[in-house]
Amino acid sequence: MSKFPGTDEQVCSFCHEYTASSSEIKLIACDRCEEALRGITKVGGTKHKSVKIITEPKVVKKVASLPLISPRKIFELLEKQGYRGQDVARKAVSLMAYRHIKRLKRIYMHKMDRKALSSKFNYLFIGPTGCGKTYMVELLFNKILRLPNIIVDITTFSETGYIGEDVTTILTRLINAADGDHQWASCGIVCIDEFDKLATSRSNARFSGEGTTKDVSGLGVQRELLKMLESTEILVPLDYGYSAYGEKVALPTVDISFLACGAFSGFKELSFLKSDTSKMGLIKAPKPGFKEKIAVMFEETEIENIEVFQSYGFLPELLGRFTRFIPFEPLDEKTLKSILQDNVISKFQEEFFDEGFELIIKDDVIDYIVSKSIKRQTGARGLNSILTKCLEEIAYDNFFSGKQGKIYVRIEDDKLVTKIKA
Ligand SMILES: Nc1ncnc2c1ncn2[C@@H]1O[C@H](COP(=O)(O)OP(=O)(O)OP(=O)(O)O)[C@@H](O)[C@H]1O
Ligand SMILES: [Mg+2]
Repeated sequence: MSKFPGTDEQVCSFCHEYTASSSEIKLIACDRCEEALRGITKVGGTKHKSVKIITEPKVVKKVASLPLISPRKIFELLEKQGYRGQDVARKAVSLMAYRHIKRLKRIYMHKMDRKALSSKFNYLFIGPTGCGKTYMVELLFNKILRLPNIIVDITTFSETGYIGEDVTTILTRLINAADGDHQWASCGIVCIDEFDKLATSRSNARFSGEGTTKDVSGLGVQRELLKMLESTEILVPLDYGYSAYGEKVALPTVDISFLACGAFSGFKELSFLKSDTSKMGLIKAPKPGFKEKIAVMFEETEIENIEVFQSYGFLPELLGRFTRFIPFEPLDEKTLKSILQDNVISKFQEEFFDEGFELIIKDDVIDYIVSKSIKRQTGARGLNSILTKCLEEIAYDNFFSGKQGKIYVRIEDDKLVTKIKA
């Protein structure tokens, strides 16, 4: 005889007969054991009649199997995966990821009421192009944490009924990412990429922001996102193709965390003008031909001003649904150098080695590529493109040629050149 866990009842190890006097004994069983246990409980004897089997929802098992990793460890794992710099943003997002998982565990495993817990986390990432906003989400939720997650380019979506992808199909994708398990999908993460491109034609953003804004559909999509970001239930089509007519499922978004990413080009200048105007009582026009820098540094105070977002072309109530606004910095020289050496050059070297060549890139070339990349203001993206262009011809001439040797990258007349030595 052994004790039935959590109760005083005794259970026979041989015939599984309970000696309990209580009217009902609850058993938790997984899908496989449930079948087997049903067989046992049907075998004669009135004592067995009181046994009730509760099938543990799959989601509880999935949440239970999620590893709980400390925010500090998540920060380090991002570094191990190749993420560099952005310490402030990385700390905030590592903590957010930890809290998201802890919150799910408290709800599903410890059966805590959501009212007693903090609400889900919707974060907005703002920073110049190529500085690691989307990359952080990719690494964190695809490589480190095993949560259902999707990254959607919001520019391809439109308001329901308009041409373009229906906004609600964002959640269809999340259900697919959760292998069709709706409840598991409702524990996931949605990353809305290119969020800044939803700014409407009401936008006052001028300069480099001009021309990047959308019109009617932008506002329609914003309204639909508003519903989604709130803790409501959304009717989600199960098929992307026939979203208006096909089968739908009600998906609660109360536990889904939304992360939005955007470069918000022109935002800084707008923020400056707003603050200047309110101080002086005057509208200040930009100087003709003014071009805002692309790789700008956003201050926390600037991006927390919802009024500036409103002028940029956003519904203030949509921005109000974000718990935290996280500025991402333009990548500095040291960080770019580290990304170039650890992530970019190493991959090229591995590829060339596989083709029979040793690729040699010395420090002066590394510094040259980094300085060119800073001038381009395209963040870490520039590193890869500079090197890809430089190595194209030599790779074309020598790959799969049966030759072997050393390939040197050098600087000549302010240009990168390649030399091969057999
Ligand atoms: N902090 C970083 N550490 C390591 N690699 C980085 C970092 N930032 C960017 N990269 C590299 O540059 C690529 C582009 O970065 P990412 O897609 O995150 O840019 P982004 O900030 O989302 O820009 P955009 O606003 O244009 O979408 C990444 O795929 C990655 O290879
Ligand atoms: Mg991006």
